[in-house]
Amino acid sequence: MDDREVTRREFIRNAGRTALAAAVAVPFMNLESSASSGKPPLPMQPITVDLTKQEFEPLAKVGGAVKIPNPHDAHKPIIVSRISETEVAAFSSKCTHFGCEVPLPDNNVITCQCHGSKFDIGGKVIHGPANKPLKAFSAALSGTTITIKDIE
Ligand code: FES
Repeated sequence: MDDREVTRREFIRNAGRTALAAAVAVPFMNLESSASSGKPPLPMQPITVDLTKQEFEPLAKVGGAVKIPNPHDAHKPIIVSRISETEVAAFSSKCTHFGCEVPLPDNNVITCQCHGSKFDIGGKVIHGPANKPLKAFSAALSGTTITIKDIE
């Protein structure tokens, strides 16, 4: 075996290692680049609630509330509540204690069935163990339409 042949073998062996390393690294580099890109997720289309529809009749009076599907979380709907004559609120039904779905308010109080946390009709904590409000989304009332934005 001469020096030229060894050089060729080493070249081929090294080329194979390089190709294998590239094949394995590229997918991880793609994951790394997407995870660290810092790009926010695509914005969610606003949800509109038409108060003239019968299913939203509870929102006609202060203290009323309904649940609507959350496009981000099939298991935790959004609660929409009427907090005053001119204001509405929209927030996640996912309890901030351990994540149970909270029910609609009863006498203006939402009581989590798991450990008893209580929230007002705007989603603020009244009584623990939860110590954070229910995740709020932007909600605006205009005429007979509620528009909910910034849903996560
Ligand atoms: S999950 Fe709601 S109080 Fe614990």
